[in-house]
Amino acid sequence: MDLTEGFWDNRYKTLDIGWDLGKISPPLKNYFDQLTNKNLRILIPGGGNSYEAEYLHHKGFNNVYVVDLSKTALKNIKTRVPSFPSSHLIQNNFFDVDMRFDVIIEQTFFCAIHPSLRLSYAAKLFEILHAKGKVVGLLFNVPLKDTKPPFGGCKKEYLQHFNPYFDIKIMEEAKNSVVARQGKELFFIMQKKKLNH
Ligand SMILES: C[S@@+](CC[C@H](N)C(=O)[O-])C[C@H]1O[C@@H](n2cnc3c(N)ncnc32)[C@H](O)[C@@H]1O
Repeated sequence: MDLTEGFWDNRYKTLDIGWDLGKISPPLKNYFDQLTNKNLRILIPGGGNSYEAEYLHHKGFNNVYVVDLSKTALKNIKTRVPSFPSSHLIQNNFFDVDMRFDVIIEQTFFCAIHPSLRLSYAAKLFEILHAKGKVVGLLFNVPLKDTKPPFGGCKKEYLQHFNPYFDIKIMEEAKNSVVARQGKELFFIMQKKKLNH
């Protein structure tokens, strides 16, 4: 299965981007609207066209980073929002990120990586979060297909991956999803655990 940089970049080049909401996702907007510390270091991995990063930037959050394999997606946000710092738009593989963050935002990135990488994804989140850092976002609550993205899953499976590393604060059906995703996505907040090993 081709999930390389070339595959993803081509999806943006040919506008084959069915996942793209064209605007900030309402459950994430609600979460952002109650944040008060504008200095939080926030990472949006696989952010794509990055409406969430744009929203945070305009609200005055000055430490927002996007990491994505697709050069075209990163170019798209820079064109839309010229004042977004170029050095915060990083073309890289999430699994190679070597910076630390307070908050990591998830939206349709987890479902884009191969299911065999799910444990590595959880471990990587843990690795690049500061103590007590949080992962916040949305996960599809639909049966797992394993032929092509979006790869689905369910709460029980997600908890197996995340419980070793995180205290799950909330993981429940999102209340204000866009119409096409109503009843199909879980909103979650989880906090990095203090591990004793
Ligand atoms: C389904 S899209 C979602 C984009 C965005 N989160 C959204 O909701 O519109 C998945 C994104 O993850 C990026 N991606 C896939 N694998 C990646 C990886 N290993 N590291 C970084 N980005 C990756 C793709 O280029 C694409 O932009």
